[in-house]
Amino acid sequence: MAKSSSEQGSYAPKNILITGAAGFIASHVTNRLVKNYPSYRIVALDKLDYCSSLKNLNPCRSSPNFKFIKGDIVCIDLVNHILISEEIDTIMHFAAQTHVDNSFGNSFEFTNNNVYGTHVLLEACKDTQNRIKRFIHVSTDEVYGETDMETDIGNPEASQLLPTNPYSATKAGAEMLVMAYHRSYGLPTITTRGNNVYGPNQYPEKLIPKFVLLAMKGEKLPIHGNGSNVRSYLYCEDVAEAFDVILHRGVLGHVYNIGTKKERRVLDVAEDVCRLFGLSTKEAISFVQDRPFNDQRYFLDDQKLKKLGWDERTPWEEGLKKTMKWYTENPNWWGDVSLALHPHPRISMGAHSNDESWSLQNETATTKESAVESSSGGLKFLIYGRTGWIGGLLGKLCEDRGIEFEYGRGRLEDRRSIMEDIKRVRPSHVFNAAGVTGRPNVDWCESHKTETIRANVVGTLTLADICEEKNLLMMNFATGCIFEYDKDHLQGSGIGFKEEDTPNFTGSFYSKTKAMVEGLLKEYKHVCNLRVRMPISSDLGNPRNFITKISSYQKVVNIPNSMTVLDELLPISIEMAKRGCRGIWNFTNPGVISHNEILELYRDYLDPQFKWENFDLEEQAKVIVAPRSNNEMDGWKLKKEFPELLSIKDSIIKYVFEPNKKA
Ligand SMILES: NC(=O)c1ccc[n+]([C@@H]2O[C@H](COP(=O)([O-])OP(=O)(O)OC[C@H]3O[C@@H](n4cnc5c(N)ncnc54)[C@H](O)[C@@H]3O)[C@@H](O)[C@H]2O)c1
Repeated sequence: MAKSSSEQGSYAPKNILITGAAGFIASHVTNRLVKNYPSYRIVALDKLDYCSSLKNLNPCRSSPNFKFIKGDIVCIDLVNHILISEEIDTIMHFAAQTHVDNSFGNSFEFTNNNVYGTHVLLEACKDTQNRIKRFIHVSTDEVYGETDMETDIGNPEASQLLPTNPYSATKAGAEMLVMAYHRSYGLPTITTRGNNVYGPNQYPEKLIPKFVLLAMKGEKLPIHGNGSNVRSYLYCEDVAEAFDVILHRGVLGHVYNIGTKKERRVLDVAEDVCRLFGLSTKEAISFVQDRPFNDQRYFLDDQKLKKLGWDERTPWEEGLKKTMKWYTENPNWWGDVSLALHPHPRISMGAHSNDESWSLQNETATTKESAVESSSGGLKFLIYGRTGWIGGLLGKLCEDRGIEFEYGRGRLEDRRSIMEDIKRVRPSHVFNAAGVTGRPNVDWCESHKTETIRANVVGTLTLADICEEKNLLMMNFATGCIFEYDKDHLQGSGIGFKEEDTPNFTGSFYSKTKAMVEGLLKEYKHVCNLRVRMPISSDLGNPRNFITKISSYQKVVNIPNSMTVLDELLPISIEMAKRGCRGIWNFTNPGVISHNEILELYRDYLDPQFKWENFDLEEQAKVIVAPRSNNEMDGWKLKKEFPELLSIKDSIIKYVFEPNKKA
């Protein structure tokens, strides 16, 4: 039922700006205020980050007292413009980077959004000269730091702030600015510090929706550490009501805890979810590595807000049931969330925030809507190398798996064109399968050195540099042809070159440029360098396929080498992107296989009449321009990450010869 503010108490806002409105908590607050207070105008601002969705605002989108603006709070011009043009008198500031796991990966994004973004809002309020009558700053229980397990006294609002992780540190930093603007400029602020919230609309990187979605898929629920950490959970609608109360009756300059005394261990939450889905806890739960730091408990004194007239209404069992019902009825709300469901998701942020543009709209246009849909799942690849072998296969793989992707239109060495691609595609990850390898083989590079440098050195480094700047993970298909057997890695010894080894083969110009670039890429933290070698695929009609090549040569050398079976390893590169793998990886199947062993398989599986001739390296040197590298790569690192990875011989049989035989 519509309410008037006088029924609620003394403060009567006119035009409220709600930041982060398409996110979880703020969407519930926005929907509630739009519905219950038709006389208030609600302006919702959100940059539509990976964790937000305009669908969260469906209940109020057609209301005349609602307006949505897509934009970033760090943009001072936008914020000033909104405050003036919308005649804002009240701000409810929810926008933030909120996922603790991500803050261990990229805390600068947290400082930028949570501290700098709040600072921008405060400064803009100051400049309106007293037109802002109420600024509600939304903070978190985590700013108090960990509570002693033994105590039964919750943190009162006057407690010291002792944050322990980068997320809570930025939230505490923002609070300090709010406090300072209240004292220095008399800004009418109120701060809230809330316990964990759960319910519909929450992006599934957070514990409860993640457990519910995993249980729905019949997958294991990962528990960080031993699951003994305790958290207090409030149902989203109760929290929306708390904000309603604070908006109308909160006292300026005060801080309010939004809390509950009911606590439960993470393990208890998992057990309750299992029970609701009829799963056996023993089978459905798995214990995974803990976070770098995981507070044991956040316990709040909840009396102050109770005195203002608010109380928790929804019992845990009821809230959890409602949440489960909502996720089962809306399984695709967030699109492909496989990234978020990982035990330690590190979602690439900043990809969707662009400093150069913002847009205003009364309602969402369809184009905007589709942009949101694509970003909400968190997975969208920008692939370079469309006309290349690996780039082409990657695109097909994405198509088959329903992963959104687009090919880059720009040239790698042209910084501007790459920036345009990123702006257009808004990717979650960039794959670089572009570069020159030489046609028909690497000898081409010996006579085309500047072209080789332009693509393989300038291009790759430019792309890496942009990805670093934009916080995007770049999966770079590099080469393992930068090593050759030496006295420490003798042929047949089983001792392979490791990821940390320095390249020792620069015999060809191609390998020389690749080795140089690999050395420089180590300085970029957002690059995952995949050392591919002698790629093989099930498509024997492709002249680039190593098996196709050697089966057509008049004579072949017979040396054992590490090789890459693309049919098995390209899907792994996608999984690595999802897992946020970085650094150098030997991207070959474990072990080595000799040319003759491959040709024997070729004869046995495909052509009993097949014959070939060998020659030695000296003879080979007479028919090629640049020397070739032969080596064994140590496959341990990749095998440890993907224990199911097949040895090179088994992989060739499974992915190449068996299917071709059947055909
Ligand atoms: N979820 C909880 O359990 C919980 C508990 C206590 C406090 N909080 C606080 O409540 C607030 C909302 O949390 P939530 O769980 O709803 O978060 P959420 O991650 O679901 O939503 C955050 C929203 O902010 C938007 N956003 C982020 N940076 C922005 C920017 N620079 N400009 C414009 N929009 C931006 C995002 O697009 C998203 O829609 C946060 O300030 C958080 O610190 C959350």
